[in-house]
Amino acid sequence: MPTSLVLNGKNVTLDVDPNMPLLWAIRESAGLHGTKFGCGMAQCGACTVQLDGTAVRSCVLPVSAVAGKRVTTIEGIQSKPGKAVQDAWVKLQVPQCGYCQSGQIMSAAALLATVPAPSDADIDQALSGNLCRCGTYQRIRAAVHRAAELDKA
Ligand code: FES
Repeated sequence: MPTSLVLNGKNVTLDVDPNMPLLWAIRESAGLHGTKFGCGMAQCGACTVQLDGTAVRSCVLPVSAVAGKRVTTIEGIQSKPGKAVQDAWVKLQVPQCGYCQSGQIMSAAALLATVPAPSDADIDQALSGNLCRCGTYQRIRAAVHRAAELDKA
């Protein structure tokens, strides 16, 4: 049975198995490849998207669970904090290999939407589920602080 949702602000219907993980529906059916497959067990955060504004792991979430909901991927992150996060990421040249970074950005933007001036502890907690094999954590933390400043401006 097809699943209808709001994907990056547009009403879409994905004609896939309702048990298919959202990640694969996004990548294979909707053709949005910015969200990455990492571990497939919700342990690394590479597949992070926002579900009604909250960061979730799309690799373990069946597409049927998002029926009628708002899903935002890295391609659709147009919110004010989302734009500030992307600008800060570019300014501070956060990525190394880049594989984890769309997930990091989605978690960072979800944090800033609810905590506009996060502490280091807030950042560490909010992004604790997003692993970076290249060890860019210091730049990520700095970029979230920079994004908070940009978002205020
Ligand atoms: Fe390479 Fe994070 S930038 S895994």
